[in-house]
Amino acid sequence: MRKIYIAGNWKMNLTFQAADDFFFHLAEYLQSTGTGDVQALICPPFTYMELATDTADQTSLSIGAQNVSQYDNGAFTGEISADILSSMDVEYCLVGHSERRQIFQESDSLINQKIQKLRKYFLIPILCVGESLSERESGKAVEVVQNQLSKCLESIEIDNDLMIAYEPVWAIGTGKTASPQQAEEIHKMIRDWIAAKYGEQVAADLPILYGGSVNPANLAELLAQPDIDGGLIGGASLDIESYIKMLKIAQKI
Ligand code: PGA
Repeated sequence: MRKIYIAGNWKMNLTFQAADDFFFHLAEYLQSTGTGDVQALICPPFTYMELATDTADQTSLSIGAQNVSQYDNGAFTGEISADILSSMDVEYCLVGHSERRQIFQESDSLINQKIQKLRKYFLIPILCVGESLSERESGKAVEVVQNQLSKCLESIEIDNDLMIAYEPVWAIGTGKTASPQQAEEIHKMIRDWIAAKYGEQVAADLPILYGGSVNPANLAELLAQPDIDGGLIGGASLDIESYIKMLKIAQKI
């Protein structure tokens, strides 16, 4: 049985004090109540990594980064390597997020290089894929996502060391969520695509998260879908009460 992941993507939000406060209350909750088969995961800004991994040391929390360099180490001012992340006990890293693709012009081939670096240092990539509004409206959602998968995973052998997040671009930060049926259709397609490339077992074990305006009000119906294994959550993960509410909802599924 696959776990359910409640993954918070903080993006470029929260001050140090607010992050400190969040982790304090999250640790209290995880230590006193626990989350069973639900995995709490937070992807904070790099500057809060030590705060985050200290909390993870004392609890069941897992930590992910939001970005990684395609290079090993060296003279790359402002970049963070997979080697550095791994030395800080970071377990996961987002790659291919639509904000990185659109604002920072990251291509599928760059994302592919980043995935290779993460795997070299034993970090688990959370590969984000998803179509734009115009691509959905012109009936190309499946084609776009398959194309992203095949380019980002080209020449990469995965086992149980990958996570995928389906994030339709039109649903990110807009308050518009894909309907559970729309999301499930793509999630099922992703699992079938992975099964065809890597085999049934890898596909059956692969966590596929949904992202795009997930919040405590719509999480349960999304998680009720057979191929949705959690949420990658931006805005609604910034507030500790909202985040804990989502952990509790996931536990009831
Ligand atoms: P959102 O962001 O929940 O604020 O829509 C999700 C994401 O971009 O990962």
